[in-house]
Amino acid sequence: MPIPLRETALEPGTAAGVSRRQFLGTLAAGSAAALLAGGASRAEARASIASIEEARTEAAPEEEFWAQVRGEFLISEELAYMNSGTLGPMPKPVFYAVVDGYRALAADPGRENARQVTAQDDLREKLAAFVNAAPGEVALTRNTTEGMSFIANGLDLKAGDQVLCSFHEHPGGLEPWKIKAKRHGVVVRELPFPVPASDPAEILNRFEDAINPRTRVISVSHVTFPTGCMLPVRELAALARPRGILTLVDGAHAIGMMDLDMQALGADFYASSPYKWAGAPVGTGFLYMRRESQDRVWPTVASTGWDEEETGAMRYDRLSQRAGPLLLATIAALEFQNAIGRGRIEQRVRALATRLRERLREIPGVTLYASDRPELCCGLTGFTLEGHDRIEVVDTLWRRNRVWVRETDYGLNTVRASTHHYNTEEQVDRLVEGIHQILKEGTT
Ligand SMILES: Cc1ncc(COP(=O)(O)O)c(C=O)c1O
Repeated sequence: MPIPLRETALEPGTAAGVSRRQFLGTLAAGSAAALLAGGASRAEARASIASIEEARTEAAPEEEFWAQVRGEFLISEELAYMNSGTLGPMPKPVFYAVVDGYRALAADPGRENARQVTAQDDLREKLAAFVNAAPGEVALTRNTTEGMSFIANGLDLKAGDQVLCSFHEHPGGLEPWKIKAKRHGVVVRELPFPVPASDPAEILNRFEDAINPRTRVISVSHVTFPTGCMLPVRELAALARPRGILTLVDGAHAIGMMDLDMQALGADFYASSPYKWAGAPVGTGFLYMRRESQDRVWPTVASTGWDEEETGAMRYDRLSQRAGPLLLATIAALEFQNAIGRGRIEQRVRALATRLRERLREIPGVTLYASDRPELCCGLTGFTLEGHDRIEVVDTLWRRNRVWVRETDYGLNTVRASTHHYNTEEQVDRLVEGIHQILKEGTT
């Protein structure tokens, strides 16, 4: 995307507990000792999480609480960052865990590596608790694309077997099936649904009508990439299971945005990327695999343990050496999210997205693709500005307003905004103001 990038990234914002000068000072060459001294950064991380827990339990007023949470991020103060849907910012404890983990590996590789290996079990347990699953149902991946590929690649399907997707799948959820089609003759159908959707039944009916005796898998996004529609995956799973059809969910966006519960959702497989909305570092993901459905899937990567069925989903993530600091930092990300509260995050995300939708709806010349129905919308909002190219809109919002959103196409020429808990009402209004200005003055 031809967005003019500065040669260097924006400056980090002031982290609570560390002054901007101090923070930049520690990053400067030759003076990194404070930040890179393991004990110091671990203490910072603990203090950060504790301060959020304290604010929550003391029931700080809503806006004060969110300002404090925002203070635990390093996002540049001039930036309204509204693209967690591609890559979310790490909060301070996560950043420190990454730095600290690599510092320790650089200093004492052997013993530290042995320590970091144990982070795999710890992370598996914490992820399982985070999404209400059993540890034996969680495979550690590197992202959603890898998880989707593990399932598509690992299922024994024959020529003529059918996989049902929606017409708004991300390539990371669709292309693994395209390999299956080319290699094994599997039929992949991409079913359309109304955009914006106004009733989950409209979507369910499309899938129900498309099911035939050769349907083996329903593979859909929880939140669609181009417009942010929350597909009714619980109902789809309920439709599929009695018919012997497996459900695979591309859940790239939902973790960290919505309060997830794998038991309640009922899907067989769920792939996700906690580095988008859950504050994890890029490079760690997970794949939920319902225990009863695991024997349908062959592992794709293999090392010792791949054939030990009793270990559960662990046998699907036998990657040998892993980036331990990223695993440790993902644990910190989950702790940070838990300190805020998963339900509270979902409420905040929904409130900011509602504000954005309500304001966009009032603007003549804006076509909104997000649904009005709470169960069909979330923190991703897709829209189009009549007569304006999406790439120019994204570019202009950045240059004029320091608002960072993204574009997607899918024949809709869409601008897509992510509203996460660290965004503010002022930032939502700044985006809306920028849109008014584009409609009045153009994008040049
Ligand atoms: C719905 C959806 N699925 C999958 C992906 C790919 O995610 P990852 O790069 O983490 O594999 C994305 C990325 O934005 C996405 O929006």
